[in-house]
Amino acid sequence: MSDRGFNYIKGRLCCDGVPVSNIAEKYGTPCYLYSSATLLDRLSDFQRAFAAHSPLICFSVKSLANLSILKLLAGKGCGFDVVSGGELYRVLRAGGDASKTVFAGVGKTAGEIEFALHHNVHMFNVESAGEMRLIAKLAAEKGCIADVAIRINPDIDAKTHKKTTTGRKENKFGIGLSKALEVASETTDMPSVNLCGLHVHLGSPIYSPDPYREGLKTLAGFVEKLRGKRIKITTINLGGGYCMSYTGEKVPPPESYAEALDPELNELKINLILEPGRHIAAPAGVLLARVIYRKENDDGKKFVIIDGAMNDLLRPALYGAFHRIWPAESRDKMPGVMKPGDDAAEGSDFEKVDIVGPVCESCDCMAKERPLPRVGEGDLLAIFDAGAYGYTMSSNYNGRTRAAEVLVCDQKPLLVGRRETYQDLVAREDLTKTA
Ligand code: LLP
Repeated sequence: MSDRGFNYIKGRLCCDGVPVSNIAEKYGTPCYLYSSATLLDRLSDFQRAFAAHSPLICFSVKSLANLSILKLLAGKGCGFDVVSGGELYRVLRAGGDASKTVFAGVGKTAGEIEFALHHNVHMFNVESAGEMRLIAKLAAEKGCIADVAIRINPDIDAKTHKKTTTGRKENKFGIGLSKALEVASETTDMPSVNLCGLHVHLGSPIYSPDPYREGLKTLAGFVEKLRGKRIKITTINLGGGYCMSYTGEKVPPPESYAEALDPELNELKINLILEPGRHIAAPAGVLLARVIYRKENDDGKKFVIIDGAMNDLLRPALYGAFHRIWPAESRDKMPGVMKPGDDAAEGSDFEKVDIVGPVCESCDCMAKERPLPRVGEGDLLAIFDAGAYGYTMSSNYNGRTRAAEVLVCDQKPLLVGRRETYQDLVAREDLTKTA
């Protein structure tokens, strides 16, 4: 049995070979637990798949932003995709390289742009004419030239969840092709801006290479068009969204994206940037939570109440997202594939339960009618594939403190983010201002 990643060894869930129950015992629950082996394996698989095009891989910080993890990835040559001054600050604090960091986002403020110019980020992914003008002005004031890409909105349906699609024309992201041509033309009168890139991010997760191929074709056509205007594009950034499997089913590996893009990329001979987040981070993290109570309603419906909630992992409440959940110690083997609507295995003593958190919202439900071996109060559950958009989307709602974060490195669990305290909850507020 592999000691890399999350595996059951003799009925005990282990992270890089360390039983997760020991970690929960030591650091308490709810707790985010990350496998450094999985993070590094997923990154190197991704790097290998696209190696022929020597891409700059900019890990999407919004998916997983813990400083120790950014440092781990930076150590492997990773760059970063940031969408705010705060994320750039994290990258810098973690020792990440600003010159390998791209800055996206529809609403960059003057302060954020100045911060990014000061640290000399690799490129701004510009999302409006106004933003282009502001970058030009601020760069001119600073006496520097900002490298920029235009984020194109190609109006491609990547068939993602409707809340996470970004490449349709009704979405706020990017600039449509005809407006983009105007914005690009304007830059020829902006000496403080070097328009050298085109960017696209279609949504996430995307379970097929086809939308990427379509996006790349659109960008390639636009590169040609800009050449006609004497604008030379040297970099194409295809964004993130590369899928991973939340159910255990087979999904396209990074190679299949690479293969689909190869012909066009070979022809273009252009620098490539990719911004994967969840593909690397999601399977590298679980949320550990303990059963506090069980209860049944008058109809016999069963609830398992755990100490992890929607403030810790928002995805199920926000998107109806599916995460596999299984006891950390169990004689019953976790099914290889677990899907929404799966029935309890025939003849097993599994029961169907709603796994819910303590937050006062009915949508604080990690799983509905989920077949599970019988669990009792005090049992530990693992919510899988929570490494991406887990901790980064957590909050203090209902006065709940954010969870601890533990990273296993070389079979050693390291507390890389301590659990918040009640003092943390009120630390920014100033009672002396009260009348
Ligand atoms: N690049 C840009 C410009 C993005 O907006 C995103 C994600 C990524 C890269 C990384 O996408 P990834 O490879 O991680 O799929 N909270 C949602 C996901 C929102 C994604 C927003 N943008 C979720 O929990 O599924």
